[in-house]
Amino acid sequence: MLNPQVKRSDVPAQRTGERTPTVIADGVDIVYRVVGSGTGRGSATSALSRIIGRGKRPGVREVHAVKGVTFTAYRGEAIGLIGTNGSGKSTLLRAVAGLLPCENGRIYTDGQPSLMGVNAALMDDLTGERNVTLGCLAMGMSREQVRERYDEIVDFSGVNDKGDFISLPMRTYSSGMKARLRFSIGAAKDHDVLLIDEALATGDARFQKRSEARIRELRAKAGTVFLVSHSNKSIRDTCDRVLWLEKGELRMDGPTEQVLQEYERFTSR
Ligand SMILES: Nc1ncnc2c1ncn2[C@@H]1O[C@H](COP(=O)(O)OP(=O)(O)OP(=O)(O)O)[C@@H](O)[C@H]1O
Ligand SMILES: [Mg+2]
Repeated sequence: MLNPQVKRSDVPAQRTGERTPTVIADGVDIVYRVVGSGTGRGSATSALSRIIGRGKRPGVREVHAVKGVTFTAYRGEAIGLIGTNGSGKSTLLRAVAGLLPCENGRIYTDGQPSLMGVNAALMDDLTGERNVTLGCLAMGMSREQVRERYDEIVDFSGVNDKGDFISLPMRTYSSGMKARLRFSIGAAKDHDVLLIDEALATGDARFQKRSEARIRELRAKAGTVFLVSHSNKSIRDTCDRVLWLEKGELRMDGPTEQVLQEYERFTSR
């Protein structure tokens, strides 16, 4: 299946040696429109005047979250996406997944990108067991495949390490346990383009190691992995290339070590 924004014929047949492009972002701008936010500076008086209805009519505020971003990702690459809070990382991933429209520019994808966490949106009132099954079915796996991989997914998540938690509703899980189960479900399938937004952040050190190994495995299976993380260590251990976004702009795109060194210098200022 192809990203709805994209036609396969749109992907240029440009190949650099053996490298096959999987995601091409071409001058991408993404703008959020916030309705009814007003244009005031959020002071108590402006809030009051809005409440009593004498202020200006609430307008539409625009947030230009991603500005003119261009890059090409290739099969077999694991790409780290870094940048300070609010720099546009999650926004860019959601756009690559086809969940947000581009204001300008286009995103071409070969294969259907999966945004981990969204594709496996879990439900708090259902047991872990049901969530594994439904999550896998939602990703397009057959019942047979789900049965085959079920034990592996539960083992990988480690949710059952401290007792039979998989048969309890998800609302009884800690936030780390939830994140681990979500990652395990998402990672159970081989993806063409896998987008991971901070999935490793809540897991403990052991789980992080395991997930990093799984990311390397997915990448070896010729997919492309994007990893958003604030852990420079996770990025170093998993990615060979890094995109650095700052205030929505692509500030640097290059080999992991090179970009991280610049970024570390920037963040330690
Ligand atoms: N739904 C939304 N509506 C309006 N503005 C939004 C929305 N989501 C994000 N933004 C804005 O877009 C910009 C980029 O946000 P984004 O979530 O992509 O940043 P991020 O790099 O993922 O940050 P973090 O490291 O904190 O996760 C920010 O200015 C944010 O306020
Ligand atoms: Mg984010």
